[in-house]
Amino acid sequence: MVDHHGQIDNVMHESRLFPPPAEFSQQARIPTREAYDQLWQRAADDPVKFWEELGREELHWFEPFTKTLEWNEPYAEWFVGGKTNACYNCVDKHVNEGRGGRTAIIWEGEPGDQRTLTYSDLLEQVCRFANAMKSLGIGKGDRVSIYMPMTPELAIAMLACARIGAVHSVIFAGFSAEAIAERNNDAGAKAVITADAAWRRGKALPLKHTVDQALVKSPTVEHCIVLDRVNEAVEWKHGRDHWWHELVREASPECPAEPMDSEAPLFILYTSGSTGKPKGIKHTTAGYNLYAKKSFEWVFDHREGDVYWCTADCGWITGHSYVVYGPFSAGATCLMYEGAPNHPSEDRFWDIVERHKVTLFYTAPTAIRAFIKWGNDHVQMHDLSSLRLLGTVGEGINPQAWMWYHEMIGDEKCPIVDTWWQTETGGIMMSPLPGAIATKPGSCCVPLPGILPVIVDEDGDEVGVDKGGWLTIAHPWPGMLRGIWGDEDRYQEVYWSKVPGKYLAGDNARRDGDGYYWIMGRIDDVLNVSGHRLSTIEIESALVSHPEVAEAAAVGRPHELKGEAVAVFVTLKNAKPSDELREALKQHVRKEIGALAQPDDIRFTNALPKTRSGKIMRRLLKDIAAGKEMVGDTTTLEDYSIIAHLRDDEE
Ligand code: WTA
Repeated sequence: MVDHHGQIDNVMHESRLFPPPAEFSQQARIPTREAYDQLWQRAADDPVKFWEELGREELHWFEPFTKTLEWNEPYAEWFVGGKTNACYNCVDKHVNEGRGGRTAIIWEGEPGDQRTLTYSDLLEQVCRFANAMKSLGIGKGDRVSIYMPMTPELAIAMLACARIGAVHSVIFAGFSAEAIAERNNDAGAKAVITADAAWRRGKALPLKHTVDQALVKSPTVEHCIVLDRVNEAVEWKHGRDHWWHELVREASPECPAEPMDSEAPLFILYTSGSTGKPKGIKHTTAGYNLYAKKSFEWVFDHREGDVYWCTADCGWITGHSYVVYGPFSAGATCLMYEGAPNHPSEDRFWDIVERHKVTLFYTAPTAIRAFIKWGNDHVQMHDLSSLRLLGTVGEGINPQAWMWYHEMIGDEKCPIVDTWWQTETGGIMMSPLPGAIATKPGSCCVPLPGILPVIVDEDGDEVGVDKGGWLTIAHPWPGMLRGIWGDEDRYQEVYWSKVPGKYLAGDNARRDGDGYYWIMGRIDDVLNVSGHRLSTIEIESALVSHPEVAEAAAVGRPHELKGEAVAVFVTLKNAKPSDELREALKQHVRKEIGALAQPDDIRFTNALPKTRSGKIMRRLLKDIAAGKEMVGDTTTLEDYSIIAHLRDDEE
């Protein structure tokens, strides 16, 4: 059951311990191990009471809630009967409480243009855009797709949706027209918000053009709002398309936030699962908002004066919870950067950190591996002394990369928070609390207050110390997903059917003798490429939709920078294997899903290894793709000669 091929090899014997720096702990919210233990224990003893108190204190209520948790497994309702608004909590609250002059967003575009918005500015712009959407008839409960570059307007669009009760579905701006259409249709989106183009490594990516192609296949979409970011020529469909700047120019800067039921959907975010279709993960208003706020404050130990930079794109959950809802609820000053980390050169991030005096920095291990490869010179030419905390998310970080981050970026004085969580969990579930918990490189350390992880075997029984097993969560928490958009069966099946009474995360994990958790990779066929989740079946479906492909199997193989790369094995109908066809298939996957899913290796074969019952033997293909000796059990293999052939075909 447990994957002994991947990360675990690297982290099994890691025993270094890095206590929190004394200067950090002295001023931290949770300053000692004892304080953490007490807080965690208090929450574990009575999670409902714990969240009830926080719910009352931390959110603004138009109407107070009457019941903290209604739990009809697997359906949770938090803060029942209450009315709040996530945009109000993120923006109005600060302005109304005298913090309107505080900087909310420091934005830097890829070409070097800069803008700064205070919380008061943000309020005005959100209100104008909210009114603009209303003028098009968009309102409570309507779904709105957002396909935009990392500009302030992306955050403004999300917050404006929250303000009027529209449900946003942000689609990462690297996805294809096909992928956009699929998401528009699944959500029944009424509008799409996009930009003419986005800057990426000095080139303009034509976002509007891609959306135009998607809209041909998106019958529910009535309106398309377009931000003029790059000044690219675009095609225009009158009546359907509207310029952002024209709409807001005419819109009033006043727009009261709509009181929303605690459980009103806030957003849908599509993510890959182990079957073909992406899952629309549904998050609701009050519980998600509270969890994003508190987890942000606990994990990043945010305080006034910090300049916080999360490098994630709003197209992923990290951008939702830790670029927008968490930090804005906490009144943080957030840096947002539009472009690539190596444009115009490989020191761009460190240049930004130095110029804007960033104090809290949150990025992904895949980025750290790229920085290591690009060399220390790019780091050393900058003064990074403003940094006081570093974080990672998206995949495990191996101890070597962790040490580099610690020494080269953190100057051995910044705690590193390795945060484990998922689109489904809404916020960080496990992480060192930076003032309290000594870190171990490669471990996400301990659960947050109110989170009760249990590692179980396939019978659902808790496993002992250092025994790997499935990671589950024993008690509902406010940030948890509330379902899969339009697919209740799948929600029950994926997360709640294998281990009764507990949320099944889909990751393997191990808990060591000190109570530290170590994530050991997925239990399913989900790939993690550069910290992004991809479904093997989604890639296979894309490949077999090509007229020359008979059958395809996609697996992950270790990759120096991406963590995992996509390797596919393809059997053809009539065509002969060729480099041209290989290239055509790569382009085909790009078109069907997006550049992030493009296979790194394509191997042609005349058959795929299968069990006698016809199941593709992925474990075996994984070993072959990784160039490893076969360790998997091959006794059920139907035709052994296939293996020999696959090995011969290695590139
Ligand atoms: C993986 C990203 C190890 C894990 C927030 C999880 C991690 C999936 C870590 C969720 C970490 C995320 N250590 N693995 N610190 N963080 N993962 O939904 O497999 O894009 O299930 O959410 O990424 O990916 P998602």
